[in-house]
Amino acid sequence: MNQRPEDVPLVDLAPEEVVRQIETAGAWMVLKRVETVPAYRALIEEALLSIGRQLGHDSFASMKLADVEGYVFVSSANSTTPFHCDNEDNFFVQIHGPKFFHLFDNEDRAIVSEELLESAPSKHRNLPYEERFEERATVYTLAPGEGVYVPYQVPHWVRTGDGWSISLAVTWRSQAVVRRNKLLFMNAFLRDRGFPQAAPGQKPALDGLKVAAYTAARAAIEPLRRSEGMRRLLRRAVFGEQANYADKAHEAGKKAA
Ligand SMILES: [Fe+2]
Repeated sequence: MNQRPEDVPLVDLAPEEVVRQIETAGAWMVLKRVETVPAYRALIEEALLSIGRQLGHDSFASMKLADVEGYVFVSSANSTTPFHCDNEDNFFVQIHGPKFFHLFDNEDRAIVSEELLESAPSKHRNLPYEERFEERATVYTLAPGEGVYVPYQVPHWVRTGDGWSISLAVTWRSQAVVRRNKLLFMNAFLRDRGFPQAAPGQKPALDGLKVAAYTAARAAIEPLRRSEGMRRLLRRAVFGEQANYADKAHEAGKKAA
């Protein structure tokens, strides 16, 4: 369950082969950003608006959702997604096979600290897991056609059953979540420099200042971020060497393919 991101073995198979061998490969694959395909985009917007209507919205645009994305997960039997949290909301829908979704009560920060949640928006998201956490889990057994709402930053881990699995995750960020991620980024940045901050909401005026500072700084460096090399340099400058783990894994993946 504890999984260091740099220790995840990469599979030397083309995506088509992963799908073809899914019953035996012992691997998983994610198709990222499927919302770039118009049919998926329409499906995702329709699904989100069906909830939005119940909240009084009459159009998808009026919901003002940022970063609306779709991910299709293809997994072998008995595979596990390690304990982690995500920095967006997620409707997770099961399409094929069984899936067991363990969602954890962390309101009091007893199992994942504020500090770990702070760093989650900018570093790899797997979190340290202990067996004792399990008593705080609500386990959802998902059959095809069923789904679960995974709220922002609620820790979870997921396992497939004894059959291969296909799932769709629909993720988005509300305006409140966009703001909170900016604040967590600033708090992590300041903590790294020896200035630990109060949790969001405890000092609202200071929170506002930090969000404004983030927004201004982001606008200033935006032209630099257009270069991938400069983005890496900026991430390393702010968060250290491991901040660029995703790039290395991506490069290794490209070499393996
Ligand atoms: Fe997740």
